[in-house]
Amino acid sequence: MQQKLNQLEQQALAELEQVTSQENLQAWKVKYLGRSAKLADITKNLKDVPREERPQVGRRANEVKQALEGSYQKRLENLQDAAMIQNLEKDRLDVTLPGRPVQPGRLHPTTRTHREIYAIWAEMGFQMYRSREVESDDYNFTYMNMPPHHPARDMWDTFYTKQEGVILRTHTSPGQMRVMRERAPEPIRVIVPGMCYRYEQISARSEIQFNQIEGLAVGEKITFSDLKGTLNSFARRFFHQGVRTRFRANHFPFTEPSAEMDVECFVCGGEGCSVCKGTGWLEILGCGMVHPTVLKYGGYDPEKYSGFAFGMGPERITMLKYRIPDIRYFWANDLRFLQQF
Ligand code: PHE
Repeated sequence: MQQKLNQLEQQALAELEQVTSQENLQAWKVKYLGRSAKLADITKNLKDVPREERPQVGRRANEVKQALEGSYQKRLENLQDAAMIQNLEKDRLDVTLPGRPVQPGRLHPTTRTHREIYAIWAEMGFQMYRSREVESDDYNFTYMNMPPHHPARDMWDTFYTKQEGVILRTHTSPGQMRVMRERAPEPIRVIVPGMCYRYEQISARSEIQFNQIEGLAVGEKITFSDLKGTLNSFARRFFHQGVRTRFRANHFPFTEPSAEMDVECFVCGGEGCSVCKGTGWLEILGCGMVHPTVLKYGGYDPEKYSGFAFGMGPERITMLKYRIPDIRYFWANDLRFLQQF
């Protein structure tokens, strides 16, 4: 019996030497330490051993069991360590490799221009007023001094909706009427930024969807000098202190008199180049004194109140500023374009 135990121990330990994987180790454990293992057989059948040998055999059986368990535990730890080292090797991180560059998000060029323009008007005491993009025909045209069928409406190619009298605003000017009707007879100084829509052929110069920033000042004794002084001050802040400007007479149905404002070409400094088409000047906005009819529609007595208004196109200004040749880039979402700003 003793010999059997010795043999068993030797055999088990020899086999354990050969075990190289955790699966094989489990199989080994079942074979030598499991319930139906040979060692268990011996302990179970101890009653068949002659009485005087029993204590010795029992003790020896226990020793063998403990020895095997101890060896098993050691082997298990060895295999686990080896597996961990292997894993670490496999997923080795080279911390000296240069990192991948992170692409930070950035503002759309038009958004940047908007924010610069908002900040300047805010400094000059103009509030932000938001007005709707889906407008009524009355606000877009009639109250802006263009009655139904008036030929001046043709200046704005309009997107109509299926609902009679509901259109997409063609300019931010109806925002003038909304703010006047809300505030009359209080004085007003606001800008009205937002999207406008025109049913036009898309080209490098015109999109069907674009932004405008409207401006409106209404109060007592506001004159054309106020308009010029305010817009000149804006141009100096936005472009540069010494920028020259000029006002050209123009016509808008909702202002009288009306003008367009040019700034000296900042590419050639006024000498004439391809950006200003040889004129030395860049047109940046339309403006004028609010027409008495518009004031009346807005709830202001034109005998007592006057005002000025202007409308500028931030996309156009952005194109001039960064020399972007095609307005369609603004909507193309092409990262090669957007990453340049
Ligand atoms: N609404 C005009 C346009 O779309 C611009 C403008 C606004 C002109 C305010 C004068 C006063 O062209």
